[in-house]
Amino acid sequence: MIDSDEPDNPFAADVPGVEVQPATYVLFGASGDLAAKKLLPAVYNLYAEGRLPERFRLLGVGSRMPEHNFRDHMINAVRQHSRTAVDEQVLESLLERCDYIQGDFTKPALFTKLKEKLHAGDKAVGGPTRRLFYLAVAPRFFGPIAQSLHEVGLARGADPESVLMIEKPFGHDLESAIALNEEVTAAFDESHILRLDHYLGKETVQNLLIFRFANGIFEPLWNRRYIDHVQITAAEDLGTGGRAGYYDQSGAIRDVIQNHVMQLVALTAMEPPAIFDADSIRDEKEKALKSIRCVASARGQYTAGDVDGGPVPGYLEEEDVPPTSTTDTFAALKLEVNNWRWSGTPFYIRAGKRMPRRSTEITIAFRPVPHKPFADPKVAQSIRPNLLTLSIQPNEGASLRIEAKAPGVAQELRPVRMDFLYGETFTRDTPEAYERLILDALRGDATLFTRADEVEQAWRIVDPVIDAWQRNEVPLEPYIAGTPGPASADELIRADGRKWRRL
Ligand code: BG6
Repeated sequence: MIDSDEPDNPFAADVPGVEVQPATYVLFGASGDLAAKKLLPAVYNLYAEGRLPERFRLLGVGSRMPEHNFRDHMINAVRQHSRTAVDEQVLESLLERCDYIQGDFTKPALFTKLKEKLHAGDKAVGGPTRRLFYLAVAPRFFGPIAQSLHEVGLARGADPESVLMIEKPFGHDLESAIALNEEVTAAFDESHILRLDHYLGKETVQNLLIFRFANGIFEPLWNRRYIDHVQITAAEDLGTGGRAGYYDQSGAIRDVIQNHVMQLVALTAMEPPAIFDADSIRDEKEKALKSIRCVASARGQYTAGDVDGGPVPGYLEEEDVPPTSTTDTFAALKLEVNNWRWSGTPFYIRAGKRMPRRSTEITIAFRPVPHKPFADPKVAQSIRPNLLTLSIQPNEGASLRIEAKAPGVAQELRPVRMDFLYGETFTRDTPEAYERLILDALRGDATLFTRADEVEQAWRIVDPVIDAWQRNEVPLEPYIAGTPGPASADELIRADGRKWRRL
């Protein structure tokens, strides 16, 4: 449908041309799981593609792994998880730019040593480098690490400049999120704090803005007058993936809804920004979130069942899950967006683990035609409203459902789809979300990072829901693993005469 000669996503188009300043990527938690699976391979791929500056260094910091193990750890991480085939020579050359120190994140000694290492590293590459402090560590360390960096002169006002990069969870409710924001902004200016939501690094999520604001035909329809409702689904077939210790404290609403799904809601609901820069886009997202409140919810927890043709245990049988846990592994919310554009057009959102399949998508359900001029009542009745589905994963693309006449002499209608599939149209490999986000951080572009006020607005929306759940006002319902969630979720949308997209 789309000619592959069309220009690429402008978010990506400018990347090769933008100069990346000399930089040191300081990775706290370098020996951990996220570093091994995502961050170290992402750095390797950026390096292999020549996207890193000439003067680049990686300095790993870990609390448990001894210094002599880092090299092997890095090699294994890249070999196991790299998106592209590993070129051993390139990897060796990257390793020459890597260093590692072991130390206790809560002790000043580590930060003094870190400062010395940074100076030594700058000397080795022949000049000062911008510092990017990436905290791939438990959130309880965010504040103390930021503070310690400040104390040794590596935070606000540092020369060369430094940036702090942190990843969710940003608090566990509004109050703790505000406290965390205060802690980190005591050490770094807000403009130097990059809060990472890996959904914003996904190509199709970025494409949502291009789709809306670089095409003339959608935006005039993008409002309450033409849109009946919006549905957003983030379904996973996986269970807790060995992270039950973390997940049980969080549940679907804190793990995925408060951050990833709310970002999708904000991008779908926001007004067009005046210009495509970090603050204009984030201002509009925050404004959209501000007008949202949740008016109904459902929650569920999976029991044993079958997923992908094999039996899986129930949530309560998973390792590290307390047998009496009431954590939600599924959450569905009905949101009202109380502003001029959306008033009366609800957003239904749901996220869950152990669903029938992995699928993240945004569906815009248009209103039915106002008048059906067909004599045959059967034809008139068969007309279904248009649906626009933006699929984020696993098959990235967009699909528009329209009514068409079935071939033949009878007047018979059939819904058909106009599809755009990323993989078919653009043959270029899609970078991993982390590659994109690390590169943007190195370039100092905050567009794809969430600002403190957005995070706080998202908590403001979900906090009352969690409170109501804690008061048991919304029952926790079981659902069988491999099914699309509890009956109460169906009821939530059916009460409005609508239904969820089939999973
Ligand atoms: C993470 C959640 O933030 O996002 C996980 O902690 C979830 O529980 C994951 O599985 C989903 O990300 P993706 O990119 O696989 O959709």
